[in-house]
Amino acid sequence: MSQRFDATRPDLELAVIGSGIMGRGIAQISALAGIKTLVFDTNQAALKEAHEELCSRFDSLAAKGKLSPDDTAKAKNNLRMVGDIESVRTSHVVVEAIKEDLDIKRKLFANLEAIVSDNCILASNTSSLSITAIQAGLKKPGRFGGLHFFNPVPLMKIAEVITGHLSEEWIADGLTELTNRLGHKSVRAKDFPGFIVNHAGRGYGTEALRILGEDIAPVQVIDDVLKATGFRMGPFELLDLIGLDISHTVMESIYNQFYQEPRFRPSAIAKIRMDGGLLGRKSGRGFYDYGKDAAPLSREKSRDLKVDESFWIERSDKQVSLLITKLGGKIASRPDAETINVVLPIGKDTTSTVAQLQLNPERTIALDTIYSLEKHRTLMTNPATNKLITDKAQSLFSRDGITTSIINDSPGFISQRVQAMVVNVGCDIAQQGIAEPTDIDTAVTLGLGYPKGPLALGDSIGPGIVLKILEELYDFYGDPRYRPSPWLKRRAHLNMSLLIKHNR
Ligand SMILES: NC(=O)c1ccc[n+]([C@@H]2O[C@H](COP(=O)([O-])OP(=O)(O)OC[C@H]3O[C@@H](n4cnc5c(N)ncnc54)[C@H](O)[C@@H]3O)[C@@H](O)[C@H]2O)c1
Repeated sequence: MSQRFDATRPDLELAVIGSGIMGRGIAQISALAGIKTLVFDTNQAALKEAHEELCSRFDSLAAKGKLSPDDTAKAKNNLRMVGDIESVRTSHVVVEAIKEDLDIKRKLFANLEAIVSDNCILASNTSSLSITAIQAGLKKPGRFGGLHFFNPVPLMKIAEVITGHLSEEWIADGLTELTNRLGHKSVRAKDFPGFIVNHAGRGYGTEALRILGEDIAPVQVIDDVLKATGFRMGPFELLDLIGLDISHTVMESIYNQFYQEPRFRPSAIAKIRMDGGLLGRKSGRGFYDYGKDAAPLSREKSRDLKVDESFWIERSDKQVSLLITKLGGKIASRPDAETINVVLPIGKDTTSTVAQLQLNPERTIALDTIYSLEKHRTLMTNPATNKLITDKAQSLFSRDGITTSIINDSPGFISQRVQAMVVNVGCDIAQQGIAEPTDIDTAVTLGLGYPKGPLALGDSIGPGIVLKILEELYDFYGDPRYRPSPWLKRRAHLNMSLLIKHNR
């Protein structure tokens, strides 16, 4: 407990400024946590609507049996809408969730600091503004910090606690204790664009857009592959859910705040679609069609072909040999004029592998072995692969009912390059000391819903393999977007977990 702030005190009073989407969510968890919660908004109609909505949320929790009648009454009782900002005078902490505008926020905090006591913590829920820039406008900037919740607040059980360069030490502890009292998990971040979650999220969508932009695979195939690797939603499903108006704007904002860092480079495809109003679910059409006349999604069916050819498999890979045999295929011990050659590149494309192994390009196809072959399979052609060879390979690999997608040539297929980017961005957050490794992974699993944090994901693939994928991508494209983070390089070379900061 900080000497200046005690989040556990029974009479804790929290003021929420702004009663929009986020303010309502913060007020809800605060009132439910037994905290006296004041809500202020300059818009009286918004304030009234927020009160009605919060009371109806409590009633609906009660109707579902999640809240006792007594606790429902207490939550309602804890909530007080105030029409005058002077009413927050007695609050121990103020969380601001108003318009995302530096000048407006600075004005509000200048006003607040003249009202509240010296020990009252002032916090902003900003997503994209610098905490240091907001606090710089204060007479006493030390008691200011960021407390970044996610929408919908009651369900997204995580908040980033951000200290600005002018924050005093007790602020991080105070906001962490407050987050715990609100029933959320807290992670600590330094004041960097995107903090942890919005920064770590840059790898997934931008790389998927690059794959689309290079005509490697259509949207649905990219989504299918990444869901098979464990992501709950495909990148294009996610872009459609959030809306390109928000996602593309965030992509541009983070890219520019990091002075055109190539790892975060947005996509022209997203900009054109955003300008065209193809925003996603909210506009009825995005990467997918949500209109009432939209045709149901159908996956291209593989043809059922007789496959007499034997399969030569790179490195005589046991797993792939067993699979082909199980599917009724024959194995050849060396490639010849009759075989279908299956190469298994890590980070390389099919063409480079064909050249390296001096194979017949027309009879060669690549298989991605980095994710489970029991969920989905990716076969990758090269520009010279014979169509009948492709069809026969697809026919054999999908014989047990597992969807087998054909994609065009790409270093690192789809899954390797997207996962490597996600891991690399996470590694660079650790390298910059923005957050502790475990906090990075916690923030990403709870804030983005990824199955694993980027560092644990890198450990499960193998840091050496992730490094190889990135080095191959970098070599192929010559694009600094793919340069491996020093954090990854060192741990891969030392065969160490990406979650270890120092072994001391
Ligand atoms: N919406 C999200 O998904 C999300 C997620 C995380 C963080 N945030 C951040 O939270 C903040 C609020 O976002 P939101 O989506 O809840 O906005 P919103 O538009 O839903 O609500 C903002 C509210 O603030 C009120 N307001 C504006 N100026 C005010 C002032 N000077 N004093 C008091 N009230 C004022 C408005 O009347 C409105 O009711 C922003 O900083 C945003 O970046 C938003």
